[in-house]
Amino acid sequence: MKILAIETSCDETSVAIVRDGRHILSNQIYSQIDIHKLYGGVVPEIASRNHLEKISQVVDSALRAAQLTFDDIDAFAVTNGPGLVGALLVGVNYAKNLAYALNKPLIAVHHIVGHIFAALTENAELQPPFVCLVASGGHTQLVVVEDYQKFKVIGQTRDDAVGEAYDKVARTLGLPYPGGPQIDALAKRGNGDAIHFKRSYLDKDGYDFSFSGIKSGVLNYLNQSRQKNLPIVPADVAASFQEAVVDVLVDKSLMALQNYNLQTLVLAGGVAANSRLRTRLKAATEAAGSALYAPSLKLCTDNAAMIGCAAYYVGNTKKSADLALNAQPSLALDRA
Ligand code: KG4
Ligand code: ZN
Repeated sequence: MKILAIETSCDETSVAIVRDGRHILSNQIYSQIDIHKLYGGVVPEIASRNHLEKISQVVDSALRAAQLTFDDIDAFAVTNGPGLVGALLVGVNYAKNLAYALNKPLIAVHHIVGHIFAALTENAELQPPFVCLVASGGHTQLVVVEDYQKFKVIGQTRDDAVGEAYDKVARTLGLPYPGGPQIDALAKRGNGDAIHFKRSYLDKDGYDFSFSGIKSGVLNYLNQSRQKNLPIVPADVAASFQEAVVDVLVDKSLMALQNYNLQTLVLAGGVAANSRLRTRLKAATEAAGSALYAPSLKLCTDNAAMIGCAAYYVGNTKKSADLALNAQPSLALDRA
C-alpha cells in the first residue's frame, strides 16, 4: 500500500510517499520560513499563495525522489485540519483533484494524529498503547494513544501553545522567527538557574498546561531590568525560560505514564526538536524504567511523511474519495 500524502496546514508545503504506514519512500518539504521571517511570523494569506505556487512542483519531486509514477500510488492522503484555513484548502483541493482524476481513495488526516505517528516511521517495534506529548506551535497536549484509532486527550494548554511561547519570548529577545530553534541554541550558552521564572502547574494533579504566565514573566523581567538599567544576559534569559517550560512538560508527561500505567512516552510536534526537552525526557524516562521515542528532527516539524503514516492506520484505504471533504481549521482531536 503506497500512499501519497500532502501537508499544507501552516507554512510547509510537503508531499511524501509512504509504504505500508512505516516506510518513507520520499518526504519533500518546501519551507516558507524565509518569506514569513520578514514579518516576524506566519502571514496566512501569503502562506496560501505560496502553497498554491509550489504544490505541483513538490508533488512531482516526491514522485521523482521515490522513483514512482501516479500509477504506483494506491491512495492519497491529506491534512484537513486543524490549521490555517486558506493553507489547508490548497492541499485538500489538490488531493481531491488527484483522487477524483485517478479514481483512487482519499484519506483525510488530522494534523496532530500525523505528529503522533511520526515516530512510528523510524521505530518498527513502536506500537500503542503509549502516552504522547504533542508540543508544537499551535498545540500542547498529552494524549493517551490506546490503539491506532483510539486517542484520549487527557490534558492541553489553556492559553498559549508551548511553541507559541518560545516564538513570543524569542521575539522579545530580538531573535528571528521561528524562535524555538533560536532559544534552543542560545540557551546552550546560558545558565538555566540564573533567573527563576514561576512554573505554572495549574492543578498539580491535572494534565492541563498554561504557558502565558511564563511568557509574561520573561517580559516583566526584561522590562524591569531595562527600567532599572540592570544588565540583561540573553543566554541566561533563554536558558531560564526553557528550564521552566521543560520542568512542567517533563513532570506532567511522567505523571501521565505513571497514572495510566504505561511504559512508553512518544514525543511529537515542532518543540519535540528541542534539545533540552529531549535530554531531560530521556533522563526522566530512563530513571522511571520507561522508553522514550523522539522522532528525528526532520520528522518533528511539519512534514507529509507523518500524514502518510497516520493515513495508513486511521483511514479507510478501500473507500473512494469523498469529494465533499473540506478544510476544518479547528478540527478537534477527540473527533479525529
Ligand atoms: O509542529 P510545527 O512544525 O508546526 C505546528 O504544527 O505548529 O511546530 C512549529 C513550532 C514553532 O513554534 C517552533 O518555534 C517550534 O516548533 N520549534 C522549536 C524547536 N524547533 C521548532 N521549539 C523549541 N526548540 C526547538 N529546537
Ligand atoms: Zn504541526
